[in-house]
Amino acid sequence: MEKILIEGGHRLNGDIEISGMKNSALPIIFACLLIEGECILENIPRVSDVQNALSILKTMGAEADFVDYHTVKINTKSAENNLDFELISKMRASSYLLSCALVRFGRVNMPYPGGCNFGSRPIEQHLKGLKCLGARGGESDGFLTLKCKNNLKSNKISLDKISVGATINMIMAAVLLEGQSVIENVAREPHVIDVIRFLNACGADILHFGSYIRVNGVRKLKGVKYRIYADMIEAGTYIACVGATGGALSLKGIEYEHIRPLRLIFDEMNIKISYNSREIYVSSNNPKGTSMQTEPYPGFPTDLHPQLSALVCYCEGGGSITENIFDGRFAYVAQLEKMGAKIKRVGNTVYISQTRLIGASTDATDLRAGAALVVAGLGAQGITTINNVNYIVRGYEELTSKLASVGGNIKLIQGE
Ligand code: EPU
Repeated sequence: MEKILIEGGHRLNGDIEISGMKNSALPIIFACLLIEGECILENIPRVSDVQNALSILKTMGAEADFVDYHTVKINTKSAENNLDFELISKMRASSYLLSCALVRFGRVNMPYPGGCNFGSRPIEQHLKGLKCLGARGGESDGFLTLKCKNNLKSNKISLDKISVGATINMIMAAVLLEGQSVIENVAREPHVIDVIRFLNACGADILHFGSYIRVNGVRKLKGVKYRIYADMIEAGTYIACVGATGGALSLKGIEYEHIRPLRLIFDEMNIKISYNSREIYVSSNNPKGTSMQTEPYPGFPTDLHPQLSALVCYCEGGGSITENIFDGRFAYVAQLEKMGAKIKRVGNTVYISQTRLIGASTDATDLRAGAALVVAGLGAQGITTINNVNYIVRGYEELTSKLASVGGNIKLIQGE
């Protein structure tokens, strides 16, 4: 098992190329089941969740391979309804098969999707929406089985909760139906916009109007070449890293619009962010604490909550973070405490006092919790080891080598 080893206290300076956005690459890969012809997807991150998604399509008989380092070619012409249950139960994004496989084959039977464990991750909104379009079936004994007679039917769907996954599933379910579907109370994350841009490039007719989405069904979607957005969460993680160490980073390839919601908080923390077309320049010296909460986009993302908590440990005045999306996203707290963090959790809020953390042996408990330990370790006195690196490689491409290239003393080592 690999581990990450970090000697803290080295300032970060230099350029980092931000990889493609995992959380849009995954639905876009599954959406290829709806498309006739070949898709060339560029800027696909080399992370293990992407490898799993490609393997799921290959098990179905599709062509789904990297043709160069960040480019994937997918052709699902010969795909059959043969789902790899083991891979599906490892990742949350396999929930996108609920729409894509149902539309393609008229039936889907799969285990409950897996993914990072931070409390219950219900999917009743996905099921409610698909039933609104005419699907029948549901969940039984950890399995999800949905069918539709002839085809799904366009309709109006009102989601009770803002959900990235349910929004994307509804778009993918509606895109090939005759007539117009309207999806209300939708998510607006850049991942959702990326999926819409991709499908529209393939010939779909989807419009996002803020809180609702209108899908005019089309008869078919054609294969295209499409470049996915860079990952705002990866960029935000490196902003937290430079906050913890001091220094200056240039983050390349990221859309400034996607960073804007982060900027409000980082400005408050005295972390300076400026931009120039698709490059963001970040510098930090003596960051200040903040009190903030996570919210659906354009609020501050839950996927940066643990990293921000680690950063606030190093900030003048400390601060607090309230988690409003996933109530179980606090497993990182015990790991930061091993490093001497003074964090108190009350309900969905953590109160953090300023402390110079000390290196320790820690365990990544999920993807972003692992990233938080990297932020903490880079700023800490002494050596930090992070076990369970398998969580981190699910969503970060070459995290250690990217940080080492800008001056971090961080490497992957073989553990016992
Ligand atoms: N929710 C329900 N019922 C549903 C669906 C969601 O109650 O049917 C709740 C969730 O429990 C949560 C909230 O709605 O409280 C939002 O969940 P959402 O559906 O938006 O999350 P998701 O689609 O499962 C994606 C990302 C997550 C990211 C969230 C929020 C993927 C594969 N995952 O999850 O990414 O945190 O949106 O932005 O896209 C990560 O990358 O570390 C990660 C966990």
